[in-house]
Amino acid sequence: MSEKTIQVNLSPERKPKPESNQLGFGKIFTDHMFVMDYTEGKGWHDPRVVPYQPLTLDPASMIFHYGQTVFEGLKAYLTNDNRILLFRPERNMQRLNRSNDRLCIPNIDEELALEALKKLILVDKEWIPTAEGTSLYIRPFIIATEPFLGVHASNSYQFIIILSPVGSYYKEGIQPVKILVESDYVRAVAGGTGEAKTAGNYASSLKAQEVASQKEYSQVLWLDGLEKKYIEEVGSMNVFFKIDGEVVTPALNGSILEGVTRNSVIHLLKHWGVPVSERKISMQEVYDAYKAGKLEEAFGTGTAAVISPVGEFFWKDEKLVINEGKTGEISKRLYQTITGIQNGTEQDPFDWVVEVHQEAVAK
Ligand code: COI
Repeated sequence: MSEKTIQVNLSPERKPKPESNQLGFGKIFTDHMFVMDYTEGKGWHDPRVVPYQPLTLDPASMIFHYGQTVFEGLKAYLTNDNRILLFRPERNMQRLNRSNDRLCIPNIDEELALEALKKLILVDKEWIPTAEGTSLYIRPFIIATEPFLGVHASNSYQFIIILSPVGSYYKEGIQPVKILVESDYVRAVAGGTGEAKTAGNYASSLKAQEVASQKEYSQVLWLDGLEKKYIEEVGSMNVFFKIDGEVVTPALNGSILEGVTRNSVIHLLKHWGVPVSERKISMQEVYDAYKAGKLEEAFGTGTAAVISPVGEFFWKDEKLVINEGKTGEISKRLYQTITGIQNGTEQDPFDWVVEVHQEAVAK
């Protein structure tokens, strides 16, 4: 048996499946998980699907102290004719390794990780929800497990994949959210870890999110960490603006996460002939466009919410209400097209969708 053979140890017990209206986001987990270990000298080894269970870790494990960890997020869909589809999963695995590089975590074999993910999904395929707007969210992540309190890169890790049947990320769904422009806290700076998908970026965002929600805003708009002028992201998503017919999104600058949905949106807009540019965009420019009546739409993009329209920004004591607080045409079209490609009801002109075939998974 090769080091790469994925063992499967099925759970003797199966949990009841939730009703689709109980799903929410990331609260319910399936019957199995994937685990693989890394130790120095041996590399990644012992890939296995096992019953979903708590982890037993030494309290000195480095993940708890210095946050050496990375994660990914993607979704699986069940089509009307019972095919299981993934959306551009290879990009998540590539990004996982880019995040690994930044956090000094040894790279994983992307093909093996994809095979593991497919195998796990097949084991738990009964958990893929089918109601509109639902999917099986896939959360691969890596944690540093060496029990050591000195600050260095761990010499042991676990790579784990868990699955969660989900509905919409925001309670608003595709309805527009209200966003507070954040002027004190920052999410990331160039040279930091902003373009890696690592826990610390999310932990450090909580304070601003808490302040925003006390003011009844769903999330914050992050500005750059140096001048607090240029727009970076919205909540945990990339952000787009439609100004006078052109769609603009902040250019990748080292502190912005390169979203798979972001990339897909740019591709689709170009394909449709909608002008789109990746460039620096300041909050002042957005404000001026708003005042001139040229701010037509704003929306966030991410795996979890797909497209999340913004109905209002609050900046410098002023409310900027966009498109009368309603979902704009481009946001709607993007949402319908991307979710349609993902769930197999729309044409897939770019071959983005990857089908999980039973026979494609090595035994
Ligand atoms: C996404 O939009 O997919 C995210 O990254 C949010 C996730 C942390 C739940």
